[in-house]
Amino acid sequence: YGVIGVIGAMKEEIELFHGHMEQVEEQVKAGVRFYKGIFRGQAIVLCKSGVGKVNAAVTTQILADTFGVDAVIFTGVAGAVDPELEVGDIVVSTDCLQHDMDVTALGFPRGTIPYEEVSCFAADDRLRELAVSVSGDIFGGKVKQGRVLSGDQFIASRETVGQLRRELNGACTEMEGAAVAQVCSMNGIPFVIIRSMSDKADGSAHVNFAEFTVQASENSYRIVEQMLQRI
Ligand code: ADE
Repeated sequence: YGVIGVIGAMKEEIELFHGHMEQVEEQVKAGVRFYKGIFRGQAIVLCKSGVGKVNAAVTTQILADTFGVDAVIFTGVAGAVDPELEVGDIVVSTDCLQHDMDVTALGFPRGTIPYEEVSCFAADDRLRELAVSVSGDIFGGKVKQGRVLSGDQFIASRETVGQLRRELNGACTEMEGAAVAQVCSMNGIPFVIIRSMSDKADGSAHVNFAEFTVQASENSYRIVEQMLQRI
């Protein structure tokens, strides 16, 4: 890979990268600030997409068109859906699905995008395997590969999170990954989503999110930092 796009949705998710970049050139497009430069010897374009699928989609398309990135890595936090995952643990995406895509009224299964061949977008095998192999050395918690579910909803109920597990086999839930995944797939760009759990998407999610987002963001950063040095 040549230039790698690194996306986070929030300040906490990108600031550690920004602090270690050299030769930074800034460019604002569609209101999103892009930082082109060198991170630990690797050419990257870092950006904060903002929260939600539309922000993530627009940001990813700009990474493709304006910056010609060869791969995209998303780094950040998520709510755990797999009951084996604890706060701080890591999910490396196998594939990504929009859990709020709902055309069930017309007979399409939940999560299915009508008239598209694919609704569940597969991560790049090499990036996924790289993420798993580097995380073994540097991270004490669990690292699981699994499905990342995305929707324009902060999930904070046991009932909903149970449904996401049973109906869509999610490992974690967040608000950007599947949009990044779809845009990357449309443009033929390899991607992987790395997420550390800030909460369990249950009744305590809002409290845990506030308390653990900084630590979880750092866990995700540590893995992506190692990936970028070996990519
Ligand atoms: N990001 C972190 N926790 C989340 C949750 N519970 N729902 C959606 N996005 C999240």
